Amino acid sequence: MKIGVAGTGRMGAAIAQRLMNLGHELTVWNRTAEKTQPLAAAGAKVAATPFQAASFSETVITILTDAAAIDTAYHARDGLLSGTVAGKLFIEMSTVRPGTERELSARIREKGAAMIECPVGGTVGPARDGKLFGFVGGEASDVARARPLLEQLCRRIEHVGPVGSGASMKLAINLPLLVFWQAFGEALALCRPLGLEPAKIVDIFADTSGGPNVLKGRAAALAAALQGKDVGPVTVDVDAMRKDLRTMVEEAESLGTTLPVTSRALECYDEASRAGLGKGDITGIPVRWMSKPVKT
Ligand SMILES: NC(=O)c1ccc[n+]([C@@H]2O[C@H](COP(=O)([O-])OP(=O)(O)OC[C@H]3O[C@@H](n4cnc5c(N)ncnc54)[C@H](OP(=O)(O)O)[C@@H]3O)[C@@H](O)[C@H]2O)c1
Repeated sequence: MKIGVAGTGRMGAAIAQRLMNLGHELTVWNRTAEKTQPLAAAGAKVAATPFQAASFSETVITILTDAAAIDTAYHARDGLLSGTVAGKLFIEMSTVRPGTERELSARIREKGAAMIECPVGGTVGPARDGKLFGFVGGEASDVARARPLLEQLCRRIEHVGPVGSGASMKLAINLPLLVFWQAFGEALALCRPLGLEPAKIVDIFADTSGGPNVLKGRAAALAAALQGKDVGPVTVDVDAMRKDLRTMVEEAESLGTTLPVTSRALECYDEASRAGLGKGDITGIPVRWMSKPVKT
């Protein structure tokens, strides 16, 4: 299939590579053109503009930072929707507010094209291996059309409602996860006097109700981070997760509720970013709390 990927950041590049490995014909676009080079070397066509990527493709995937990035990629003068796109299918995978996906869907529909959203659980490794968890929002017929492709990217696909529902589900899932990283740091501060090996502490937590799934997948990286060692390439950075926490708080406000623990976690993440950890791996959050007394 001819597939366009607009946004070849960490996730977009992994998804594009996965699809190329399966034999699809890829056209990629990225605001910062250098980031498309590894994909070009692997055989992808590089588009000069988002619209060019759309015009070469039957299906277009976008996975971008936030609503502003979506606005640029879709609605700029040479954006994905700047020319004829009737009949194409757009799969929007960014983690953003439900309203952002709904507004985009309406504008895509006006152009005679179809759109589903599929924000995902799982990071770069699962994206490369087709093992993501897709939280799909869209009309049943559009979801059915997208499903064969989604099955090549995801280990599990859940159609949770119309467009916007996937975004709500994704934000909800990231909420306890992101609060967890801060809470785990605070728990480690209690363990600090024990003088145990970091790997042992992580292993104990991972085998109890105090540790969620993420500890299993990231145990090695976490133990390395706690020992001050390199955790390898950053797959999720602190600033990106501040964006998610902010998005959750804004969404809750629009629903007439507050998220007290999430709001406090966001303040802690903001402080970590101000302390220089913003572009670092997410494991920097618990490590910061364990390694030295922090007062906020
Ligand atoms: N990393 C993960 O583990 C993970 C997991 C699940 C979901 N997500 C979500 O997936 C999305 C992408 O994450 P990522 O980790 O791949 O981020 P990333 O590596 O920072 O990539 C972000 C992408 O968005 C583009 N972008 C940002 N601002 C833009 C703008 N104003 N105009 C045009 N393009 C813009 C970037 O282009 P440039 O290269 O030019 O900056 C890049 O292609 C986010 O919504 C994130 O929350 C990430």
